[in-house]
Amino acid sequence: MTQDTKPRRNRAWYGKLDRDGFIHRSWMKNQGFPDHVFDGRPIIGICNTWSELTPCNSGLRDLAEGVKRGVWEAGGFPVEFPVMSLGETQMKPTAMLFRNLLAMDVEESIRAYGMDGVVLLGGCDKTTPGQLMGALSVDLPAIVVSSGPMLNGKWQGKDIGSGTDVWKFSEAVRAGEMTLQDFMAAESGMSRSKGVCMTMGTASTMASLVEAMGMSLPTNAALPAVDARRMALAHLTGRRIVEMVEEDLRPSAIMTRAAFENAILANAAVGGSTNAVVHLLAMAGRVGVDLTLKDIEIGAGIPLLVNCMPSGRYLMEDFCYAGGMPVVLKELAAHLRPATTVLGKDISAYAAGAECFNRDVIRPFDDPVKPAAGIRVLKGNLAPNGAIVKPSAATPALLEHEGLAHVFETIEDMKANIDREDLPVTPETILVLKGCGPKGYPGMPEVGNMPIPAALVKQGVRDMIRVSDARMSGTAFGTVILHVSPEAQAGGTLALVRTGDRIRVSAAQGVLELLVDEAELAARRAAWVPEESPYTRGYARLYIDHVLQADQGADLDFLVGKDTRPVTRESH
Ligand code: FES
Ligand code: MG
Repeated sequence: MTQDTKPRRNRAWYGKLDRDGFIHRSWMKNQGFPDHVFDGRPIIGICNTWSELTPCNSGLRDLAEGVKRGVWEAGGFPVEFPVMSLGETQMKPTAMLFRNLLAMDVEESIRAYGMDGVVLLGGCDKTTPGQLMGALSVDLPAIVVSSGPMLNGKWQGKDIGSGTDVWKFSEAVRAGEMTLQDFMAAESGMSRSKGVCMTMGTASTMASLVEAMGMSLPTNAALPAVDARRMALAHLTGRRIVEMVEEDLRPSAIMTRAAFENAILANAAVGGSTNAVVHLLAMAGRVGVDLTLKDIEIGAGIPLLVNCMPSGRYLMEDFCYAGGMPVVLKELAAHLRPATTVLGKDISAYAAGAECFNRDVIRPFDDPVKPAAGIRVLKGNLAPNGAIVKPSAATPALLEHEGLAHVFETIEDMKANIDREDLPVTPETILVLKGCGPKGYPGMPEVGNMPIPAALVKQGVRDMIRVSDARMSGTAFGTVILHVSPEAQAGGTLALVRTGDRIRVSAAQGVLELLVDEAELAARRAAWVPEESPYTRGYARLYIDHVLQADQGADLDFLVGKDTRPVTRESH
């Protein structure tokens, strides 16, 4: 075996002519790898979140093969490894409880094994941020390949969108406008291929932001999962990561403050998920970029350009065929900050040559779907550290509103009472839900878009102001105020709200105010006792004890930052 003289990380595993080197190489050779692949060439980890329990990522086995072709072709040595997979629609109490656990898995796997660079294969909502958080904390060259969206849902001759139409159909059933039989039949038409939700839900939002941050190759966000061009993209990504190792191009050089600002601008333009906020804040914490909740408003004035559900009417397949993210980046060109990408070129290179093939799907900057679409941050005594609302998916009239609260103390309370015919609510009522924050649920689930009370649904009401410490699905819509911080379980003012209290909301002024006087609030606070959590052991206990609030990204406090030191001690 020849010895490579490059100071490559994998030499500390595979370059040693001693007992340790024997052990590292010999056991790898049981897979049929010949001597020469240990000659010092870049070893590329393929971090795979494939799982049959994460249907959105069920195509990643195939894409891993595409990446391997590219890595071999460029002279690298690909090694695929599994990490925890987070199936958004399958995990209880919520996949978000485990995002930080996936991030730990990714971080420790990359650090402990002898790789020089890594390709992150993810897609479903929490897999993209979890993988990036972990990779950022090790800071080896890294690049993303996403699952890609499912084909458009089709049912009774119409396009139907993942999630978005689930919320619509279930309200229609409750209003007596749709039969249960039809509702069940729509299931099969909604999810017709491998891939992630084909609305602009959290998965496609995160893939779009990853592309806008230059952490994937161009066009990664929108190519359908089953489109052959995605396999080609995986192949090209395999080639590129080998070059990135040669160039020592690390995520810390790409995911700079400028890249995060570009992600915020892009999130507004695509009508992206509110979940992007917690994920961007958590990723920034890992890479050492000083991003705060207030910074999310950088995107407030950016118009909605992408006409996809839930803010618009089309789906990801349409977005792809219209030109995808390169067109959005071209429309945003005057606003984007200079920032380097996995190509080693500025992000503007992603827009070069982009052409729009359907102007109803991707609108020009000066003729948008909606003006000023970016997520708004609300503050006030009800959310001293902030809350958020997504105007593009809300009812404009409700964004400036004062009304009386109807409070649900827990998710169980809400579920038991929301359909009561005598629930004392009107369309002007503000529904308040407690106990759904990071510590409270635990894991900050997507329950903030609570159903409209049955009595009102039957009268045709489809939106009301809802306030909680929860998140909501990126596929959801409505005037839903989310991520109230501090959460109720952490002793936030939210814990003190009572039915009949007045609440004032102003998205324009960034206000969320509980109109109860200070003395009364102080008395309530003195009498408040936190709920005992039933989670007394294991990961959930660790999570509850260490999770940061939503305004700080809901990472675990001891995971913020990175550790790029070499691992020097051997296993034997
Ligand atoms: Fe996995 Fe929507 S549930 S992407
Ligand atoms: Mg989700």
